[in-house]
Amino acid sequence: MSFALTTTMFAFLLFTFMYFLFKLYLHPKQKTLNHKKPPGPSTLPIIGNLHILGKLPHRTLQSLSKKYGPIMSLQLGQVPTIIISSSKAAESFLKTHDIVFASRPKVQGSDLMSYGSKGMAFSEYGPYWRSVRKFCTLKLFSASKVEMFGPIRKEKLDVLVISLEKAALEGEVVNVSEVVENLIEDIVYKMMFGRSKYEQFDMNKLVLEAMALMGAFNLADYVPWLGVFDLQGLTRACKKTSKALDEVLEMIITEHEQTTNTDKTRNEDFVDILLSIMHQTIDVEGEQNLVIDRTNIKAILLDMIAASVHTSATTIEWALSELLRHSRVMKILQDEIQNEVGNKRMVEEKDLKKFNYLDMVVDETLRLYPVGPLLIPRECRESITIDGYFITKKTRVIVNAWAIGRDCNVWSENADEFYPERFIDKKMNYQGHEFESIPFGSGRRRCPGIQLGLIIVKLVIAQFVHCFNWELPHNISPSNLNMEEKFGLSIPRAQHLQAIPSYRLDDAKHE
Ligand code: HEM
Repeated sequence: MSFALTTTMFAFLLFTFMYFLFKLYLHPKQKTLNHKKPPGPSTLPIIGNLHILGKLPHRTLQSLSKKYGPIMSLQLGQVPTIIISSSKAAESFLKTHDIVFASRPKVQGSDLMSYGSKGMAFSEYGPYWRSVRKFCTLKLFSASKVEMFGPIRKEKLDVLVISLEKAALEGEVVNVSEVVENLIEDIVYKMMFGRSKYEQFDMNKLVLEAMALMGAFNLADYVPWLGVFDLQGLTRACKKTSKALDEVLEMIITEHEQTTNTDKTRNEDFVDILLSIMHQTIDVEGEQNLVIDRTNIKAILLDMIAASVHTSATTIEWALSELLRHSRVMKILQDEIQNEVGNKRMVEEKDLKKFNYLDMVVDETLRLYPVGPLLIPRECRESITIDGYFITKKTRVIVNAWAIGRDCNVWSENADEFYPERFIDKKMNYQGHEFESIPFGSGRRRCPGIQLGLIIVKLVIAQFVHCFNWELPHNISPSNLNMEEKFGLSIPRAQHLQAIPSYRLDDAKHE
């Protein structure tokens, strides 16, 4: 037997021994109190159930929940975890007991990238998160702010339609996934930084790197004592990317500080709005007051980029994929838009409220493809008993929004089918009242960018299908279009969507 193998076996036996010792002697309370835990699969020493998650955890967890129920226990490394898989259970955790589950667990990626979790999405529940969320909701996501940035959406979409017209003339196959992602990046960067392109650095590449690192499965989050060894090299990679991103964000902020003094006519963007709270004090109860500095601003900006680009782009990508597979739905949608808008002009944002069928198409897409299939994990702030199950403080809670949207008991036997008409009598507003489909989460931590996200998604889909007919490349038929997803911070298509556009408007004017 080789030395390496002997050492590995010895280490494994030692860990197993230590694990049982820990369970037997250091956790006697668990045995004596006899608190009932939700059911779940049996665990292995050290790794618990980590080995069963597979490449598509939302699907694995959905099938496990069929065996163990809608409130299920898992042990992810050293982290006790509860998986929620039904709308009823989600309502209980995210509405009835929302305050208990309103925190996020500390994760290494966000700690390193987000200046010690100083953003919004991953910071723990408390006065800091409440102040940041309140400020952003009022100043960045209000209806008037969403409207204020309307001209940016129009400008970027107009440019894209012109370039797609050219591709249509040439009969080109367009990489729809790439085109949509670039469009959303252009819109988001212009809205946040005042411009979409920088010659000095490749913002897209850096953001993609950061997202991949944040979405990567990090052993250190589940078996913390392994963190020091950095076996996956993630700590090093996070530090490197975060340093590069920091230089970029510093440059953007400095540029804003300089032009604010010289150019008073410039349109206000997210950076300007955030800079207005620089040096303000947040009263952190029982601790020293916290003064907002550059690291807070940079962390919040990073969260906004990560939360907005891929969520909107992925939703549009799935909606267009389903429309290409369902010509019946595509036709109804195109007719609805044409009846309102005619075929001589493009769609404008003010038209959107007239499109009921478009709303149904988007609701159906979000039900089947919630881009955050497991939302963002929550952490239990105090021990609590729910449905007879005892859940200890610090337990991680994962809500399987993907499984909830596909629950046959709620959505009938055709739950996996794309059928927008199921929403005819069911108006979704995603404000925390419906739990049958929760693509934006729910409760205190639900997405604050719903309005902005929905307007981008609806406008882009409407414009794409109004201005163009779309066909799949010749070797692909609607029934054999690959619809596999890949798992990360969001669930995009595993393969890019490719399609051939043909222009369908008469004399549309691009003003
Ligand atoms: C279709 C588009 C979008 C979808 C499907 C989506 C989905 C989500 C989901 C599932 C969560 C986690 C909620 C939870 O844990 O309960 C979330 C959180 C968040 N989203 Fe969105 N989102 C979208 C667009 C946006 C946009 C455009 C922004 C902002 C520019 C944004 C900003 C955020 C932030 C800051 C959080 C963290 C909230 C917190 O922890 O307090 N999202 N989003």
